[in-house]
Formats: sequence, structure tokens, C-alpha cells
Amino acid sequence: MRIRRATEKDAYTLAVLTHRFFPYTGLGCPEVLCRLRSKNIEYYAAIEDKATVGFTDLEHQGGGKAKILGLAVLPEYRRRGIGQALLDKALAAARAKGDEKCVILVAEDNLPAQGLYEKNGFSHCGVLDRKLWNKTVLLMSKEL
Ligand SMILES: CC(C)(COP(=O)(O)OP(=O)(O)OC[C@H]1O[C@@H](n2cnc3c(N)ncnc32)[C@H](O)[C@@H]1OP(=O)(O)O)[C@@H](O)C(=O)NCCC(=O)NCCS
Repeated sequence: MRIRRATEKDAYTLAVLTHRFFPYTGLGCPEVLCRLRSKNIEYYAAIEDKATVGFTDLEHQGGGKAKILGLAVLPEYRRRGIGQALLDKALAAARAKGDEKCVILVAEDNLPAQGLYEKNGFSHCGVLDRKLWNKTVLLMSKEL
């Protein structure tokens, strides 16, 4: 498995994965392409056997803050360290851009993701004032 920076050529695959794991975002291929072209957003793909088995995208929001927008691994590839490797890459990318803090939104019932973030030093720092995806959403953050 290796992690590489995603490019415009990955737009379709990333749009399919986004639709599968984060359908409520409503992001299709044109929007993902736009994000891939944005200078504030970086996508990384986890590649195994030439296939994209996971991805993460990170936004440099200004003011020293980075936000992980999405992080997902195909179910059949989970619990093998791929989520961790993607998170490592996102955090390294944030540090490389001079970000000092990283934030992420996570659904209250998403214990696997919360476990991953807690293991990596993220702490719970609030609850979103409105429901998203029909769920209570927690805010987690980490100083970089
Ligand atoms: C969250 C997700 C990315 C983790 O990916 P993964 O490749 O399975 O994660 P890893 O194998 O690198 O696991 C790293 C750590 O995360 C935590 N973790 C992962 N899966 C877990 C689970 N099912 N239950 C509890 N903790 C879990 C553990 O602390 C684990 O460390 P350990 O294996 O030493 O116990 C994956 O479950 C996923 O894609 N979920 C669906 C999409 C999603 O919800 N994304 C997060 C949006 S905020």
C-alpha cells in the first residue's frame, strides 16, 4: 500500500468514493475536480494493487487552521493501518503548510473514526449547534 497525492485524473474515482461514504455532501465529479484544482485543498489516495482503496482530503483554511474534510477506507481494507497512514499524510501536509491546528467533524455514533482521531491526539472540543446528516456531530481538534 502506498499513499500518493491525488490529481485531476483521480476525479472520477474520488467522486465515486465520496458518493459512497459521504453522500450527504452532494459532491459529484465536477465539484471534486474543482476541489482538486483548488490551491487550498489537497487530496491523497491510498493505493493497493493499483486500486484506490481509500482517500483523504484536507483544506488549509487560513489562520493556521487545517480541516480534514473526508477520510475513508473501503470496508474490505479496514483495520490494516490504511486510515492511520492517510491521517499521517494529512497531518504532515497540514504541518508542511504551516498550519498549527487541525479540526475534523465526526458523527457522534462513528466510534471507529473517533477511535482513530483520539489515538492520534485529537480531543473533543465541542458539538455542532445543528444536526448534520440527521446526526449529532462532534468537533475534534489537535494542535500540530
Ligand atoms: C475510520 C476509518 C477511516 C478507519 O480506517 P482503517 O483503515 O480501518 O483504520 P486503521 O486500520 O488505520 O486503524 C487505526 C486506528 O483507528 C481506530 N479504529 C479503526 N477502526 C476501528 C473500529 N472499528 N473500532 C474502534 N476503533 C477503530 C483504532 O484506534 C485503530 O488502531 P488499532 O488498529 O491499533 O486499534 C474507516 O473505518 C472508514 O473508512 N470509515 C467510514 C468512513 C468514515 O466514517 N470516515 C470518517 C469520517 S469523520
